[in-house]
Amino acid sequence: MSTVHLILVGLTGSGKSTIGRRLADVLGREFVDTDQLIESGSGRTIRQIFDTDGEDTFRDLESSTLADVLASSTPLVVATGGGIVIRDENRRLMHGHDVIWLRASLDTLVGRLGNSRSRRPLLDGDLRRRLVELDDQRRDLYRDVASSVMDVDGLDLDRIVTDLQAAVGTT
Ligand code: S3P
Repeated sequence: MSTVHLILVGLTGSGKSTIGRRLADVLGREFVDTDQLIESGSGRTIRQIFDTDGEDTFRDLESSTLADVLASSTPLVVATGGGIVIRDENRRLMHGHDVIWLRASLDTLVGRLGNSRSRRPLLDGDLRRRLVELDDQRRDLYRDVASSVMDVDGLDLDRIVTDLQAAVGTT
């Protein structure tokens, strides 16, 4: 593998896109968000893809998008969708890159997600219960794929970005 990318993983609401964008600025790297690429590439929202074609189609798009992004020869900061870790092939693709698991408590996630569930069909229904289920299903997968873990509860954006720079050895 030639280019090592910085990849943010974690449950929905953990701050991957917000943190990733800022981190990319600070590192002078390009920022990409796999969900945004899927939406712009397909001309549909994630909810539309789920509603018309189902989750498997979304996961196929997610895997091919991740593979394309990681093939870039310039080092990127990559924000991923919370479910990127589900597929073995995706975890294999991320191996060897700087993969940071942004870990947040249930209370933090519920507080952040209250008003922004429209592009997150997997959160339909009881928000807290859905997050507990997703956390149960994915916690070990995040741990497995991550080269570093960052607990983001109670930290502001500047602090998180500074700590992440240190974690990946860029300060
Ligand atoms: C998903 C999380 C979403 C998006 C899609 C599926 C998931 O991304 O990829 O709705 O499986 O947890 P965020 O983590 O940015 O919300």
